[in-house]
Amino acid sequence: MRLGWMPTALALALAQGCAGKDADSADAGCERTPPLTYDNFGKGFVGKHCAGCHSSLVSGQQRKGAPPGVDLDTYRGVVTWAYRVQARATADPPTMPPGGGPSGEELDRLTEWLECQVLRDADALAAEQGSGG
Ligand code: HEC
Repeated sequence: MRLGWMPTALALALAQGCAGKDADSADAGCERTPPLTYDNFGKGFVGKHCAGCHSSLVSGQQRKGAPPGVDLDTYRGVVTWAYRVQARATADPPTMPPGGGPSGEELDRLTEWLECQVLRDADALAAEQGSGG
């Protein structure tokens, strides 16, 4: 009989379907693999939404009122302003950029990146500077 193959195929499909253990259990903590970084997320985000005004390469009128020194075009700059970036860009509703722009998904990722990398680095930097005098 030709139907002899069927149970095998079915069993295979079922086995494969059940193989992906705990697939959707991440997302809550900092468990994304690979994690969000400046290179794979942050640089693109600030480049698109912040650095048009907040950049060391932008001066005078072109900053559209962004305070001098609040430059977010490098990772170091974002770390320096980490808590203010969080306060302004992930507020509800966000107060930076002034005209809005980032999607909800982008803001979720920004929140995750800040919590899982940037704020930690900011704290480490502050501790370093504190102990260095
Ligand atoms: C269109 C220009 C523009 C863009 C784009 C922009 N900003 Fe600003 N930013 C300003 C201006 C103007 C001020 C000063 C007035 C104020 O604080 O609201 C400012 C001030 C700030 C400050 C310093 C004041 C504080 O609250 O500590 C931070 C931090 C900041 N912005 C973060 C961001 C972040 C993060 C983004 C991107 C998500 C962003 N900005 C995008 C114009 C901009």
